Amino acid sequence: AIERTFSIIKPDATKRNLTGKINAKFEEAGLRIVAQKRIQMTLEQAGQFYAVHKERPFYGELCEFMVSEPVVVQVLEGEGAILKNREVMGATNPADAEDGTIRKEFALSVGENSVHGSDAPETAAEEIAFFFSGLEIVG
Ligand code: CMP
Repeated sequence: AIERTFSIIKPDATKRNLTGKINAKFEEAGLRIVAQKRIQMTLEQAGQFYAVHKERPFYGELCEFMVSEPVVVQVLEGEGAILKNREVMGATNPADAEDGTIRKEFALSVGENSVHGSDAPETAAEEIAFFFSGLEIVG
């Protein structure tokens, strides 16, 4: 089925001017960028967005990192978009990521891992709604 998933190009990647190269990976995989904006996340937004990780030891560091530079938030659309995006991103830790994936090519560490992508349909819908209004998504 055609799905939509939520994606973030993270600070380590925007800082190194990798937005276009990362978008090329999505498009080459058949994902369409149907919404996209560059934003400076606030600490409050980052904290809410990653609230599921609140009890993890890396939560504070993760939130500080996400506000350290602008990010690009996106909605990606395509056949099986949620899984497809996860395949294109590669494993969370770049040391475990397959050749050709975004994280293998660009990520610096498990924290500075260049991209975020939704892990399931419910989280995709929630994460899209957190950053985009319906009018901003043009399929
Ligand atoms: P993401 O998909 O954005 O969702 C949660 C993020 O937490 C994850 O990507 C990683 O970048 C980050 N993360 C996971 N484990 C660690 C860790 N041990 N140290 C720092 N950040 C981490």
